[in-house]
Amino acid sequence: MSEQMLLAFDDEAPLAQALAQALGVPLAFVQRHRFPDGELRLRLPEGLPSRVLMLRGLQQPNEKLTELLLCAPAARELGARELVLVSPYLAYMRQDMAFTPGEVVSQRHVAALLGGLFDAVLTVDPHLHRVTSMEALFPGRRGLALSAAPLLGEWVARQLGRPVLIGPDEEAAQWVQAAAQAQGLEHGMGCKRRLGDREVVLELPPLELGGRAVVLLDDVASTGQTLIAAATQALARGAASVDVAVTHALFVGDALAQLHAAGVRHVWSTDAVPHPSNVVSVAPLLAQAVARL
Ligand code: R5P
Repeated sequence: MSEQMLLAFDDEAPLAQALAQALGVPLAFVQRHRFPDGELRLRLPEGLPSRVLMLRGLQQPNEKLTELLLCAPAARELGARELVLVSPYLAYMRQDMAFTPGEVVSQRHVAALLGGLFDAVLTVDPHLHRVTSMEALFPGRRGLALSAAPLLGEWVARQLGRPVLIGPDEEAAQWVQAAAQAQGLEHGMGCKRRLGDREVVLELPPLELGGRAVVLLDDVASTGQTLIAAATQALARGAASVDVAVTHALFVGDALAQLHAAGVRHVWSTDAVPHPSNVVSVAPLLAQAVARL
């Protein structure tokens, strides 16, 4: 029997297949059944190898956290001695402080839960802002944060030559700088204030945008309102085109349609979250990191 295996879920099959192939390890899927009352019955392969890599991105996180809560200890019962979570999208990372008194700091508690279940956690562009490192997030565990920003930078440069890269807010600085520097692109960061789930006010940096191709780059798009506000402003300032590149394409509800209605031309994303806009694969990045762990 192989000494390691990739365990995945069928709704992430394309990334799972690409990752298993890049790693040269066998791939198996967790079988799921939902009982009428909403409970889950999960089935893992019997006789697991000593090292199990579990692929589970945490988009729509609540049910997936339950899956991990059940699958991780079950994998150990079935023979796994080392459990590595490969979670291309880590949810609950933006709730990194109590913004109002009494508010649960979800980032800390979700990280504690995952750190208790897994020996190592590997992810892509986690929203680390006030907590700045995986070491701080997963004390005593191996945590590795990879960045897809250079890959997105390479993609946009291949499509557009020399666009201006703009991060809609200060928190995007880390990704925009990584993407822009790898390609020598002009870049800048906006300034954003969120007033509600679907309400943001934002100011783009004072770069010359008239007649230029602008690419808005961010780690995650959820309602799309951040990108819509930024695109509207870029177009009002004379940008010739506005395209969007994100690592995590959550795009809830009709966010994608709204983005196009606001004048955004292309929406590009990585396959860290499965979505029709996926153009860049994080599988090679993940495979190299797993080999390094
Ligand atoms: C927060 O700062 C993130 O980097 C994103 O800008 C934000 O989560 C996007 O959310 P939405 O698409 O709902 O505006």
